[in-house]
Amino acid sequence: MALRLKERFEKKFDEEIRFFKGMMQGPKQVGAIVPTSSVTARKMASVIDTRSGLPVLELGPGTGVITKAILAKGIKPENLVSIEYSADFYQHLVDSYPGVNFIHGDAFDLEKTLGTRHDQMFDSVISAVPLLSFPMPRRVELLESLLDRIPAGRPVVQITYGPVSPVVAKPGSYHIQHFDFIVRNIPPAQLWIYRRG
Ligand SMILES: C[S@@+](CC[C@H](N)C(=O)[O-])C[C@H]1O[C@@H](n2cnc3c(N)ncnc32)[C@H](O)[C@@H]1O
Repeated sequence: MALRLKERFEKKFDEEIRFFKGMMQGPKQVGAIVPTSSVTARKMASVIDTRSGLPVLELGPGTGVITKAILAKGIKPENLVSIEYSADFYQHLVDSYPGVNFIHGDAFDLEKTLGTRHDQMFDSVISAVPLLSFPMPRRVELLESLLDRIPAGRPVVQITYGPVSPVVAKPGSYHIQHFDFIVRNIPPAQLWIYRRG
């Protein structure tokens, strides 16, 4: 029991060190202070419909906290496609979550980054990319490209830390829903859902 606790503590500490190193290398690209909490990760993964038979797309997995929650929800590793920009995080993810389709690339250039999967339909999108570090037109462009890759009505979930939706309203194109405010996250996190139809 004490050994399991020690291992868990060491793993968490290792994740935080890794995250801190990522912050030092590119604070704008990481966009948070410490890894996402498991409470937040579980809430984000809760939107997945495991019966749809479609794979899930994850953006900005970082240390893999949300990846872990997606797998715990019942998604098989081979049914998860996850795009990470940082080479360090990417290598750590490949080593930690065997079988997941990690792609080392830019989520804002989806067509190129998805490669042979560029016309794949996904069940839903779980995103932790730091949208606030990018100009609004690029955020809208990314969101619309994500919505083109999931069935109408299915969600793109986005974590952010500001008080308002990180993507402006575009009536006629998508619907915005405030999903949750999670205090048990550093900093407290806002979750937003975007859908079509
Ligand atoms: C807020 S952190 C995610 C934290 C993660 N949930 C965790 O707990 O470790 C944002 C992540 O998005 C990644 N990222 C930033 N820009 C990206 C891009 N253009 N494409 C893909 N990933 C990107 C960063 O490298 C970082 O891993």
